[in-house]
Amino acid sequence: MTERNSTIGKSTIGRIRQDFPILHQKVRGKPLAYLDNAATSQKPKQVIEALSRYYGVENSNIHRGVYYLSEQATAAYEAARVKAQRFLNAGSPSEVIFVRGTTEAINLVASSYGRLLLEPGDEVVISGMEHHSNIVPWQMLCESVGAKLCVAPIDDSGSLIVSEYEKLLGPRTKAVALVHVSNSLGTINDVKYLVGLAKKKSAVVLIDGAQAAPHMPIDVQDIGCDFYTISGHKMYGPTGIGVLYGRLELLEAMPPYQGGGEMIRSVTFEKTIYAPPPAKFEAGTPHIAGAIGMGVAIDYLQQLGWDFVHEREELLLRYALERLETVPGIRIIGSATSRASVVSFTLDGIHAHDIGTIVDQEGVAIRTGHHCTQPVMDFFGVPATARASFAFYNTAEEVDILVNALMEAREVFGR
Ligand code: ALA
Repeated sequence: MTERNSTIGKSTIGRIRQDFPILHQKVRGKPLAYLDNAATSQKPKQVIEALSRYYGVENSNIHRGVYYLSEQATAAYEAARVKAQRFLNAGSPSEVIFVRGTTEAINLVASSYGRLLLEPGDEVVISGMEHHSNIVPWQMLCESVGAKLCVAPIDDSGSLIVSEYEKLLGPRTKAVALVHVSNSLGTINDVKYLVGLAKKKSAVVLIDGAQAAPHMPIDVQDIGCDFYTISGHKMYGPTGIGVLYGRLELLEAMPPYQGGGEMIRSVTFEKTIYAPPPAKFEAGTPHIAGAIGMGVAIDYLQQLGWDFVHEREELLLRYALERLETVPGIRIIGSATSRASVVSFTLDGIHAHDIGTIVDQEGVAIRTGHHCTQPVMDFFGVPATARASFAFYNTAEEVDILVNALMEAREVFGR
């Protein structure tokens, strides 16, 4: 690899890394190598400053005040909605609901639309590589209405077996919920194609885009899905904020998820008339600073450009795979042809948690465990994996530090 084969110079990366204050610190006496970006990405100073500015000089409640600060905050919050709309290529800002993140977005759809849509005996199709947040809400829904959860299997490379998925789609399939990019395998699903198959059966389709949004452009109209979910903190924005995109027609038909202030047009003790979307789904004071910060993160990503992000992450992924394969006893879990910059692995005779603890001594942050995808672990017959996930600001040197730390882990365990 490396920077030598890339059109992106080291000085460019150095400059970009300056935007991320957290990266310039030592942990356990070693320079931090942050390789847990799939769990949460780091935040550029532009986002941090926007949060600080909001609380320092702009803080006020939105949609309620007639005074200057409230008008400013309302305008900034709604401007963030428009940024998210453009980011996803949604048809209108009314199709963009601010939520806490992907988990809340999926629960909202399963609870609200799911209950409206499903009858006993109906079917919901998901895949074998889903995150728990795209399994459990559907399982809860199926249990409560007497519907069936059908799981499309994956193969040994961690790819969806599309022919099996297609076989599951039938006249009782009312909803399909699929991950765009797997958080534990890195697999990128061809969601446009998969949505097209589901649409032939008139199913409503939700795509979990939490792990896709940091890596690639998203066009919900081109994908053809009914719902798409993203989380701010995975895409260089704050925690506690995300977006549910929903087709307006469906959002209009859906009952609210939560009741309270802001989501109403009028209330009497006899009857409440709900506000139209998006307000119908944003009860209570929202995470105003979070939405504004997420908007700034979107600006940041767009100013970097997808070509840059893609070239950088592809380079890091290829280099990491090449270097990791040299570690004796390593087993890489997931080898789909189309994959994001996520590498899960095990080391012979060393539990994933021990790997994580040992590399931490070298300043390397990776995630270990089941990654909220226990069925994926079961499929591959492992209790847990170690997972390195890369962002554009990571470097080849950080990959080397990880690989050296893994070699040390082997020595510690006498392997
Ligand atoms: N879903 C997040 C991850 O994959 C937390 O680490």
